[in-house]
Amino acid sequence: MKIGIVGLGTVGFGVVEILTQQKERLEKTINQEVTIKYGCALEEVDLPDGIIYTKDFHDVINDDEVDVVVELIGGTTIAKTIILEALKNGKHVVTANKALLAHHGQEIFETAAKHNVKIYYEASVGGGIPVVVPAKEDLVANEISKIEGILNGTTNFILTLMETDNLDFDEALTIADGLGFLEADVSLDLDGIDAAHKIYILAMNAFEMFFDFNKIHASGIRSVTKKDMDYAKKLGYKIKLIAQAKKLENGYGIDVSPTLIGIKDIVANVNQAYNVVEITCNYLENVIFYGKGAGRYVTASAVVSDIIKTTKTEIWKHEYRYEENIFPITKSQYYVRCDHPLDLDYKTYFSFDKDHIYITNTMELDDLKNQLEGETYNLFKVRD
Ligand code: HSE
Repeated sequence: MKIGIVGLGTVGFGVVEILTQQKERLEKTINQEVTIKYGCALEEVDLPDGIIYTKDFHDVINDDEVDVVVELIGGTTIAKTIILEALKNGKHVVTANKALLAHHGQEIFETAAKHNVKIYYEASVGGGIPVVVPAKEDLVANEISKIEGILNGTTNFILTLMETDNLDFDEALTIADGLGFLEADVSLDLDGIDAAHKIYILAMNAFEMFFDFNKIHASGIRSVTKKDMDYAKKLGYKIKLIAQAKKLENGYGIDVSPTLIGIKDIVANVNQAYNVVEITCNYLENVIFYGKGAGRYVTASAVVSDIIKTTKTEIWKHEYRYEENIFPITKSQYYVRCDHPLDLDYKTYFSFDKDHIYITNTMELDDLKNQLEGETYNLFKVRD
């Protein structure tokens, strides 16, 4: 097998290292040579002997000897061209590009199917956690009804710091930034867009559908204050950024929002940059995938596994329908904080200082917002 890696940043270089260190064992596993022929990046990096450095991705995708193109540059422009051209040239593709698949998955998967080649993208969701392939292959006996999870490590790290180190949002953000956790476009992490890309990919496979990414309602963690975290804690909850996708009577509910989770729940205890995906289905009932959601070797581990998988598994056709009925999930219990008492249907209430805090009964968000018209408040979902 000859591999061309396009993108030699943190993850790309991790892939080179793992493939070099594990070469002998991997070759034994698949009974063939595993060779990196090209490393492609705009700036030259020190590559192990034998790997050809190139600036031009055409060298990689047009070389008849290359079997697998690994796209690790990210973004939705050049990456899209590289992947589509590679597929058209009969190359298998491995990518970690969640944004690209969420926006252009249908075109990419159709191109792969047309040219009878494979595309794997385990590293696009949950970093190194095996969840994309297992959810599709190992749960095939089941109908999936719900997927919930913490899919963004950076925001989970920030929320964990706020909680454990008693920091406010800006202080925690500065630390996360200093550790190099944030995406170049911080909005992807902080506003829930990265988590939305990932829930798109999980929902696409679970419910066998393509849909318009823009229909996912994503709200991030900027509205989470230390004060709300403390009140949530008094009530027995933690606040986590939860991505959710589930079957509804009239379609599918998919969204990303900061959510209060009962303190004893496994998901509430997923801290730091860890990710978790909880899948509800009819026979297995409930299964949880947990592990590190970001990092050089963590993500490279998934990429290398995908590279090896291109030699083994049958082609996933992704022959999915297009689904129009995608909605936010609006029926929920809600946490509401206001500076004076409100007339709400609530399950729990307490007041502290000047604040009045409610956990409402399960209700529709529109009904709640109507009742809150003209008020100043902070509001989060509460998981039942
Ligand atoms: N920014 C992403 C995260 C990186 O924090 O989860 C891994 O996809």
